[in-house]
Amino acid sequence: MNHKRGFASDNNSGIHNKIIEAIQKANEGHCIAYGDDQFTETAVDRFKEHFGDDIDVYFLFTGTASNVLGLKALTRSFHSIICTEVSHLNVDECGAPENFLGTKLVIISSKDGKLRRSQIEPLLDVFGNEHRAQPKAISITQPTEMGTVYSIEEIKDLARLAHKNGMWFHMDGARIANAAASLGTDLKTITRDAGVDVLSLGGTKNGMMVGEAVVFFDKKISKDFKYIRKQGMQLGSKMRYLSAQFEAYLSDNLWLNNAKHANSMAKLLASELEKIAGITITQKVEANGVFAIIPQEHVKAIQKEYFFYVWIKEGPVVRLMTSWDTTEDDVIGFIKTLKKIMKN
Ligand SMILES: Cc1ncc(COP(=O)(O)O)c(C=O)c1O
Repeated sequence: MNHKRGFASDNNSGIHNKIIEAIQKANEGHCIAYGDDQFTETAVDRFKEHFGDDIDVYFLFTGTASNVLGLKALTRSFHSIICTEVSHLNVDECGAPENFLGTKLVIISSKDGKLRRSQIEPLLDVFGNEHRAQPKAISITQPTEMGTVYSIEEIKDLARLAHKNGMWFHMDGARIANAAASLGTDLKTITRDAGVDVLSLGGTKNGMMVGEAVVFFDKKISKDFKYIRKQGMQLGSKMRYLSAQFEAYLSDNLWLNNAKHANSMAKLLASELEKIAGITITQKVEANGVFAIIPQEHVKAIQKEYFFYVWIKEGPVVRLMTSWDTTEDDVIGFIKTLKKIMKN
């Protein structure tokens, strides 16, 4: 097994000690299964502290399931969902949205991962036309798949557009903590307060072992979600272990400190990369991802030492993800290796 540290994904990082401790604490005695336990109650309370009392929240195992099932609560098969061409929903969910929702994904080109009002508006002249799938949700990813972060105003603007046209506004927040850390806000300001109706909130990438949450800011939408989650095969029997992790994650700023650290490592990485002739940073570094062009002839040699993915073949543009457990030594070691291989 390759235990080399690298920049392939924040999913490759380990579990924060506080999460391990929380799991261990939950591992005493017996507990009612399927979420009827005190750990789940406390975890839900934590979510309420962050997002307000009148929310509905459900814990699931994967981000894909959170996105797809969250959207299932919003759409029917004759609807469409507007998202970017680079969205996880479109690219990395193996067609799960199309399969489980039956909806059409209307994809919009985007170099920086963001959706823009000007691209959506021309698509909205189909309402009432029975020949066309009916737009029912706008889905954005925050931070985007290209490591950029929507400003609060950008989110609000898209939310207004969605609501004005009778659509829901969905956010894939697999890394929402990194966005909040980047913008210097709490979680509610960039989600609920900005007009998000349903949020996929990720924990796995930022120090948890496993666990994602679907947070509903309007209980009318979530009224059938317990059935959707079960039918979607995401109702965990040993729920207490997901819940205990979320309780720890949302306490004492663990979510924020982990994300701040990951973001600061990305900034360090980018600033060191910028000093190397022949390397170009292609996206603003606003969260925990760095996208850079590295000369093709060096990519394989560097990957042998520190694994990462080539994201876009032309360039090639590589994606370097930092995480809550990335160290300065990781960054400096990577930069040294890069310079050696590139004879810089
Ligand atoms: C933007 C985004 N959304 C959602 C996910 C969740 O994916 P998974 O189903 O692998 O947990 C990921 C994981 O990489 C992601 O990058």
